[in-house]
Amino acid sequence: MLEEFERYPLTFGPAPIERLPRLSEHLGGAVDLYAKREDCNSGLAFGGNKIRKLEYIVPDALASNADTLVTIGGVQSNHTRQVAAVAAKLGMKCRLVQESWVPFPDAVYDRVGNILMSRVMGAEIELVDEGFDIGIRESWERALEDVKARGGKPYAIPAGASVHKFGGLGFVGFAEEVRAQEAELGFRFDYIIVCTVTGSTHAGMLVGFAKDGRADKVVGIDASGTLEQTRAQVMDIARNTADLVDLGRDITDDDLTLIPDYAYPAYGVPSAETNDAIRLAGRLEGMMTDPVYEGKSLQGLIDLVRKGYFPAGSKVLYAHLGGVPAINGYSYLYRNG
Ligand SMILES: Cc1ncc(COP(=O)(O)O)c(C=O)c1O
Repeated sequence: MLEEFERYPLTFGPAPIERLPRLSEHLGGAVDLYAKREDCNSGLAFGGNKIRKLEYIVPDALASNADTLVTIGGVQSNHTRQVAAVAAKLGMKCRLVQESWVPFPDAVYDRVGNILMSRVMGAEIELVDEGFDIGIRESWERALEDVKARGGKPYAIPAGASVHKFGGLGFVGFAEEVRAQEAELGFRFDYIIVCTVTGSTHAGMLVGFAKDGRADKVVGIDASGTLEQTRAQVMDIARNTADLVDLGRDITDDDLTLIPDYAYPAYGVPSAETNDAIRLAGRLEGMMTDPVYEGKSLQGLIDLVRKGYFPAGSKVLYAHLGGVPAINGYSYLYRNG
């Protein structure tokens, strides 16, 4: 589906798929759980889902002759850390706007984890006291103007690399990669679980799996807490991406499965049940997840298995999209494990 798009390799290659036998067994054994480890997809500062998206955005950035990648996220944004790593790898400058998207009181929240790594990798960081919003932000537009005013040539990457003309392509590639891995494994996954916030991960997968009739089997677990905005953004990106890759059919509301039940109490704040899910996968599989994104989709996966959402015998692929560095910002919560 992506033959005509230029890709700048930033990942190690196909992200591995591993079985989660002890977690599957713990949940009754009727559903077979697997994880696709996007959290181990690259050597660029711990990798994650944005690296895959950026592979299709970087050629456009290079062609524009920009010298500075400019992007935005929350204080503990994984996305901004991955853009900082990519900028370093390309020999470009990086300007990050980091807003106060999470009302979290840990004293070291803006010192550790993702933001620490972005600083070490040389990004210029501006902390802005604005709340959570996945849309286009004035602070980001101001940063783009500021880079220009100082004689630089900025390249604009929106939050999560999502509302970008090529933002959905990377996860179309994820679906193609899964199909190739399924051919080797000798079976097909019945469901794919994905954490959804700024939307292009889910949107890309939706388009990629639409090709073999599985669009609605991509089960999005909302972690934004702003469901309608996220839903609209996923649908916009999916439609734009379907046009780009000539999918050959319209994307309809029936293609989207997006479950709102696990985003509470707020974006970036884990519930007791999210923390239970993080501990369970840590203790049964040695698989670490974070309290902002993957802990919530893992909580959703576990709850849906327990509720019988997946018919017995289903094979379910949990897309582990990265994000563990942020857990350092929550040190008080996990002080006893
Ligand atoms: C670890 C992790 N999981 C899931 C997501 C959600 O992906 P998207 O923003 O493309 O919806 C993000 C980024 O927002 C993330 O960093």
